[in-house]
Amino acid sequence: MSSKAFRTFNNGNKIPWIGFGTGTALYRQSAEHSISTALEAGFTHLDCAEMYGNEATVGPAIKKYLSGPEAHPRGSLFVTTKLNTIPSGKTVRDSIKVSLEKLQIDYVDLYLIHTPVPHQGRIKEVWKQMEDVYREGLAKNIGVSNFRLKDFAEFIDSAEIIPVVNQIEFNPYLLGATEPLLALHKKYNIMTASYGGLVPLSRKTGGPLDGIIPTIRERLSKDSGKQVTDGQVLLKWLNAYDAVSITTSSKRDRLVNLLETIALPDLTADEVKTIDEAGKKIHHRNYMQHMEL
Ligand SMILES: NC(=O)c1ccc[n+]([C@@H]2O[C@H](COP(=O)([O-])OP(=O)(O)OC[C@H]3O[C@@H](n4cnc5c(N)ncnc54)[C@H](OP(=O)(O)O)[C@@H]3O)[C@@H](O)[C@H]2O)c1
Repeated sequence: MSSKAFRTFNNGNKIPWIGFGTGTALYRQSAEHSISTALEAGFTHLDCAEMYGNEATVGPAIKKYLSGPEAHPRGSLFVTTKLNTIPSGKTVRDSIKVSLEKLQIDYVDLYLIHTPVPHQGRIKEVWKQMEDVYREGLAKNIGVSNFRLKDFAEFIDSAEIIPVVNQIEFNPYLLGATEPLLALHKKYNIMTASYGGLVPLSRKTGGPLDGIIPTIRERLSKDSGKQVTDGQVLLKWLNAYDAVSITTSSKRDRLVNLLETIALPDLTADEVKTIDEAGKKIHHRNYMQHMEL
């Protein structure tokens, strides 16, 4: 269980425990204002992707943060972006170069293969190209997203660099389905990053967690002296699985509230177990339903 503000990858590099996502609500929308709000609220970790079609609107917000009146150092910001499909005749290097230009930075902190689907059958070759952009310094860390056991089986034995992370949809309603993958992550020391962590509160309400979260929320509120929220309880559960949380909100107050989670007491082993057991009563995947693990 980890309540540290930074997590350490298998290569010794660090990643902030929570990141602000520019997909979902901001998909193909300008992310500039939302990113600026998230940075002001205290986020230092941005989760972007070529597929979201808005990297060019993230760039100006990053530029403002790094060069504005307060001029934060580049090292204070952690930027992830993700490889989409690779157009015919192009390479991973070509893709990351386009992303970097749009993001107005000369390296990303983390570059992920967004999904294995368009690369099926040639993941080994694509991963070699990922290793090349890492060696060139265009990405400080490389990893994958939405990878299943069978996707790892395609390349992990031939990889010279083990992915630092697998970013997957993960919340208690996916625990049962994800356990075999978590075991693989553990075997190779691959960090789990979660998106959709708040789905039980947003897109899948009325499930077995509804009767459990308020009790844990009240215990945390009592022990911390703060008014704890349901979202914070779920982020604490992700903490218990050492998962980095990729989330988003259109509301500044909620962003601040989610960031404050790190200072709250950890869940007890019994509370984690209670959430696990309730979560496993149903299976709900919100994204990528075609890609059951
Ligand atoms: N790698 C991938 O394939 C992949 C796929 C999907 C997403 N992602 C990344 O993950 C990021 C976050 O994804 P996500 O949106 O699924 O994250 P999430 O953390 O599960 O959900 C955030 C959403 O939940 C809402 N919410 C939060 N607390 C709530 C509550 N108590 N009641 C009702 N609604 C609540 C927020 O709405 P408000 O705006 O009202 O606060 C926000 O729209 C994306 O932006 C993207 O960067 C990656």
